[in-house]
Amino acid sequence: MEKRPILIQGAIDIEINYLKEILKEKEEIEIGTYKFYTGYINDYPVIVSKTKIGQTNAGASTSIAILKYNPIMIINQGTAGGHGKNIHKGDLIIGKDYMNLTAFRIERREEGSGSDLAGWKMRAFYTDSQHHIYNVADMRLVDIAYGLKRRYRMGNVFQGRIASGEIWNRESDRIMYIYKKYGTLCEEMETGAVYTIAKNFDIPVLGIRVITNNEVL
Ligand code: 5AD
Repeated sequence: MEKRPILIQGAIDIEINYLKEILKEKEEIEIGTYKFYTGYINDYPVIVSKTKIGQTNAGASTSIAILKYNPIMIINQGTAGGHGKNIHKGDLIIGKDYMNLTAFRIERREEGSGSDLAGWKMRAFYTDSQHHIYNVADMRLVDIAYGLKRRYRMGNVFQGRIASGEIWNRESDRIMYIYKKYGTLCEEMETGAVYTIAKNFDIPVLGIRVITNNEVL
């Protein structure tokens, strides 16, 4: 029987081009507008998936891939912005868990009393946890990936929390606030959906991000 494939995702072309190149016996299929490339890397079946940007796209393509290919694990990877002053361009973040950057509860204010964006409370909605930290990666995958860190030559490798949402934040003070309060190492737009759906289907998942920007350095 054919082995269950590894699903490797990236949101945009530059995040999946290399993987597409090294895929042997590559075949492309498109479902809706979601592209999947089947093939082999080191003789092991791999599905490379272009999720497109954002939580909705990442969630849809993850669900489609799970139902169609029954992957043994999901690796979501791509670019991200660094949080804090320790994380530089080229560094890698192994995502032990994630927090939702774009879930807020906004307290009532009368008409005419304005908006207090900075006072919006970050919180979780669609989880059984009361915390902001929704879902965690598979710790075996975290350990394997982090254990390979000496092989990475383009920067440092960290393991920790990914902030995920549909927001590109360039305010240094806001970034430092999130970093200090929640201990996030980077921000991006897909991990939240992928970790949530992988957990709901009980499939091991790992997010890996390369830092391409950092506003606070
Ligand atoms: N903030 C948010 N998303 C980022 N991305 C890279 N850097 C950042 C950042 N600082 C990624 C997202 C998305 C695309 C717009 O780039 O994950 O896929």
